[in-house]
Amino acid sequence: MSKVILAFSGGLDTSVCVKYLQNLHKLDVITLTVDVGQNDDFDEIKKISSELGAIEHIYVDSKKEFIQNYVTPAIKANALYQQKYPLATALARPLIASKAVDMAKKFNATSISHGCTGKGNDQVRFDLTIRSLDPSLNIIAPIRDMNLTRDKELKYANENGIKISEIAKKYSIDENLWGRAIEGGLLENLENEPSSDSLKYVQQDNTSTEYITIGFEKGIPISLNSQKMDLEKLIDDLNSIAGSHGVGIIDHIEDRVVGIKSREVYEAPAALVLIEAHKDLEKLVLTNSELRFKLLVDEQWAWLSYSGLWLDPLLSDLNAFVEKTQQRVNGEIKVKMHNGSYRVVGRKSMFSLYSNDTVTYLSNSNYDQTLAKGFVALWGLQSTAANSKIMENKE
Ligand code: ARG
Repeated sequence: MSKVILAFSGGLDTSVCVKYLQNLHKLDVITLTVDVGQNDDFDEIKKISSELGAIEHIYVDSKKEFIQNYVTPAIKANALYQQKYPLATALARPLIASKAVDMAKKFNATSISHGCTGKGNDQVRFDLTIRSLDPSLNIIAPIRDMNLTRDKELKYANENGIKISEIAKKYSIDENLWGRAIEGGLLENLENEPSSDSLKYVQQDNTSTEYITIGFEKGIPISLNSQKMDLEKLIDDLNSIAGSHGVGIIDHIEDRVVGIKSREVYEAPAALVLIEAHKDLEKLVLTNSELRFKLLVDEQWAWLSYSGLWLDPLLSDLNAFVEKTQQRVNGEIKVKMHNGSYRVVGRKSMFSLYSNDTVTYLSNSNYDQTLAKGFVALWGLQSTAANSKIMENKE
């Protein structure tokens, strides 16, 4: 029998996929779980896979690779899709897809399968990454192909003895170290506030105030409260710290690649705080021209990764620019967290372009304000002339 590699989480969609691949496509199923920091019970996932009759289960620990090659460039690019979403799921998909391609080669599988529906972005990310890496592989997406819906899937799971956890019955959740996405269920009604049973990191009953300091080197967070640590631990710690202050919920209307407007709820305490701190440091060390141009690049970066074009050459072109700008992004940012809010309250850097001697209103300033008059007149030459013409020709 031919083999298929199924990207497997042990949840509703992918469990149902195992059965469909076996019964309908007559394939031997090899399940693949890629660890991107989702904190799941991986032994349990392995057990579910074997109970479903997969011929093999593969676990790959890709946390380091995820942090280094996906999360780190996202921080450098201040990546927030539609100014809100830190792209946790979007960043993990191309990595999972590339591992599936590796495993297809290793196990001589002819197909790769994923549990994405035809309504979301994840299908785009999986399919395009797989096609870019190995166009000879067949892609099977049972939920999309068979037009399955959650209610039908739950019924099918019930009939086929597939066990589904209570939370997975209520919501569609995707999690990794960079954030957690919660969709469906009660949240489909735009008037419902996310209830605490859907949240994992963010607590809302803490009224204390906490200050933290994040150190950056070349745009990468390298220390928390002056303690050097690797980025994986730093993100993990910051998820708990910021989450304990109620920081990290994102609730917004998002435009999916397929045209749907959806209501998306995320928890991403560390991602929000780190990006805010990183942006703030960039404002201190980069020139106005660099900042204005980088804003355009950052926006494109987020769009390409959101929309499944992770392997488009433009993304690596943009990365080359971003990388260059990060050479001076060194310093320390102090953030205050209180009752759901986070705010930068202190910053320092050896590359700081802020000059106290220039900005001060006291007499020791090295800024010659008498030069400003001429500058202002020339600066507004065209703009003021245009307005005179408009007035002249009004009547
Ligand atoms: N809307 C988000 C994205 O496109 C989250 C997707 C979450 N996936 C899920 N299976 N719940 O990246």
